[in-house]
Amino acid sequence: MQAEVTTVGHPLVQHKLTIMRDKRTALPDFRRLLREISLLLAYEVTRHLELKQVEVETPVDTTTAPMLARPEPCLITILRAGNGLLDGMLDLIPSASVGHVGLYRDPQTLEAVEYYYKVPKDMGQRLTIVVDPMLATGHTAVAALDKLKQDGAREISFVCLVAAPEGIAELRRAHPDVPIVTAAVDERLNDKGYIVPGLGDAGDRIFGTK
Ligand code: URA
Repeated sequence: MQAEVTTVGHPLVQHKLTIMRDKRTALPDFRRLLREISLLLAYEVTRHLELKQVEVETPVDTTTAPMLARPEPCLITILRAGNGLLDGMLDLIPSASVGHVGLYRDPQTLEAVEYYYKVPKDMGQRLTIVVDPMLATGHTAVAALDKLKQDGAREISFVCLVAAPEGIAELRRAHPDVPIVTAAVDERLNDKGYIVPGLGDAGDRIFGTK
């Protein structure tokens, strides 16, 4: 069965994303908006976490109330642009452990090449949330998920800000079990592998490198 693709249509997410798309949006605003949206995406991607009932003593009475049944999710950022989604997600899930996967796109082939890899050992016991703001060709995401599954990740969700239809199709072909949460699905990729209309190079806009 194919996992879901969820586009978060919340008005605040859509409003903030439109400001981020604008090429005149300055670095501090871009960063702040990304942090705010990623908190809201974290809310969406954790919506189905399992709960268990525990006993709790309030100042007034003893009751049973829900808590997470399993250890908190872990976050895996695909370097470097994925780091832009981390702070907002950690605001919502402060005890999440964080893994880093360093992959870059070969500019000629657009294929993913690995240069760094360090992830939590107990991914298999947690929801593993992989973050990268732009799902473009999908090659990087597929390579990251291949590796994470080899290393024991069992329940994985992928979170991005903007997805291209091509990237969604590629990710679903290679990893049909992985749900995708995104703020937008755009029109297409251009011949340089950029999402159209997109928001440009997310890494450059987050880190001010252009
Ligand atoms: N990576 C980006 O940063 N932007 C795109 O449009 C595609 C890939």
